[in-house]
Amino acid sequence: MTPVTVHTLQEMKQKGEKFVCITAYDALFAKLFCEVGIEVILVGDSLGMVLQGHDSTIPVTMEDIIYHMQCVKRGNQGALLIADFPFMSYSSQSQTLENAARLMRAGAHVVKLEGGAWIAESTRLLSQRGIPVCAHMGLTPQSVNRLGGFRVQGRDPQQANTIIEEALMLEEYGASMLLLECIPAKLALTISEKLSIPVIGIGAGKDVDGQIMVMHDVLGISPVTPKFVKNFLADIYRRHPWRYKVVYRRCQRRQLPKSRTVL
Ligand code: KIV
Repeated sequence: MTPVTVHTLQEMKQKGEKFVCITAYDALFAKLFCEVGIEVILVGDSLGMVLQGHDSTIPVTMEDIIYHMQCVKRGNQGALLIADFPFMSYSSQSQTLENAARLMRAGAHVVKLEGGAWIAESTRLLSQRGIPVCAHMGLTPQSVNRLGGFRVQGRDPQQANTIIEEALMLEEYGASMLLLECIPAKLALTISEKLSIPVIGIGAGKDVDGQIMVMHDVLGISPVTPKFVKNFLADIYRRHPWRYKVVYRRCQRRQLPKSRTVL
């Protein structure tokens, strides 16, 4: 496909066309997602939960994201690749610049940071140096301990206003796109209308410019699937272990490998 850039998404927003973003962590799935025309692939720190088995994204390191970005880059066929800055990898300006360079060298086209007003300065620094930024607001999983759990954000009017103001501020400081996680649909719509940059949502209703999904949620193989996700392979997580049991039994009974298989 024609390579997708931040400008492609900007144009799609202006035309009212929706785009799709999904997480991927390896070359095979990256290729598959490109073949179906998905515009954006995120190498997210969700890998800590869906691949590594942690109960939060906090243990994920720069090395983890870089490794998976390098894999995804090899399978990519034109999607815009976003890399997550993991927990505490953007806590000072010099650390932010250095780590952004590492993510871009690994294959990222855009870097994603969680936070509101406090990431404004980093957003400016990065965009001035030619690095597009996706700001991640609403439920920011790296702050799960401060938020008291994976909870919907922006339900009370004061918090909603803060999210709107900080989103506008990040746009002013040079963010190229905004990701909103787990906020009320009405608030997400207001923000998408107020901002000229593309707004991507997860658990933020239908009225944003693009939707993002964690691939394991869509496949129904996440240990816990969020309420807003449509599971396209319902029950596979329950049924999957059975398939391996069948293989195991067939091997025991010498029914595998198939008789004509040449080893
Ligand atoms: O890390 C990730 O996959 C994310 C999604 C939840 C959007 O940030």
